[in-house]
Amino acid sequence: MSSTSPDERTLVLIKPDAVRRGLVGEILARFERKGLRIDAMVTRTMDAALADEHYDEHVDKPFYPPLKDFMTGGSLVALVLSGDQVIDVVRGLVGATDGRRAAAGTIRGDLSLSNRENLVHASDSADSAKREIALWFPSSADPRQRRRCAPRTGRSAFHRP
Ligand code: CMP
Repeated sequence: MSSTSPDERTLVLIKPDAVRRGLVGEILARFERKGLRIDAMVTRTMDAALADEHYDEHVDKPFYPPLKDFMTGGSLVALVLSGDQVIDVVRGLVGATDGRRAAAGTIRGDLSLSNRENLVHASDSADSAKREIALWFPSSADPRQRRRCAPRTGRSAFHRP
């Protein structure tokens, strides 16, 4: 389990299949109804370099080339969510990686039939969340975490009340 800090944050990508299928509102609504806060949100297209950085741990896996094609093949929505134990809470709402096996009631369990086109990415640990938030929202991160990958399309607003 991750920490219990109410200020915990996580990075979520609403993937190109969800955008294409008109499911962005449905997915955001599930996070909002749970009581999570949307601290930042931007629509953009992932380029090859950002895909390789974001999926650093997967680049040598056999499923990576088609995953990269899929993730760079259309616009997606990147967001930072915050709330109590948000990393674990969001992973629970999203469900298991394979939509065919994910439990009913989860986003993937209700809406996906694929292991790759599984609608949502969510950080899997506090370290991943820190790294991924710095990658997608460099202006929100600790200066030591900032990368060169500032959003190139869309508008981003980062709000910390
Ligand atoms: P995500 O949470 O974005 O993290 C890695 C992604 O790789 C995962 O969701 C899936 O989209 C994809 N993925 C993981 N395992 C497989 C697999 N066995 N076959 C195809 N795609 C996979």
